[in-house]
Amino acid sequence: VGAMANLAAAIHDTFAFLWVGFYRVVGNELHLGPFQGPIACTRIAYGKGVCGSAWKEGRTLVVPDVDAFPGHIACSALSRAEVVIPVHDGDGRVAAVLDVDATETNAFSELDAHWLPAFCALIEQGLA
Ligand code: SME
Repeated sequence: VGAMANLAAAIHDTFAFLWVGFYRVVGNELHLGPFQGPIACTRIAYGKGVCGSAWKEGRTLVVPDVDAFPGHIACSALSRAEVVIPVHDGDGRVAAVLDVDATETNAFSELDAHWLPAFCALIEQGLA
């Protein structure tokens, strides 16, 4: 949890995204974990929203325009685009997701889709 908190703070401070944080898998839900940014919803069901979909599909989801994503959960009306990365435990199961939200559509590039999962690999080392 401490490493998640520091990584969320580092990404948020460095890139000035609206919201950067983790949701942890607890049973059949995602529970809000360490984050930086506006207050957020505390529970997300499996398969719901971008976070629950990234968990279900087990892959990074880049959403250039949240209005075009059916079922997007709008924690902040300022969020226009987001990327969600699954974080795996040592058995390969999704243990958490990293959710990064931006105030501009099309905010995320191939660089983000490459490097944000690379940052999450640091967390995965701690969970292995
Ligand atoms: N946007 C997310 C919900 C979490 S907030 O953005 C912090 C989603 O649809 O999964």
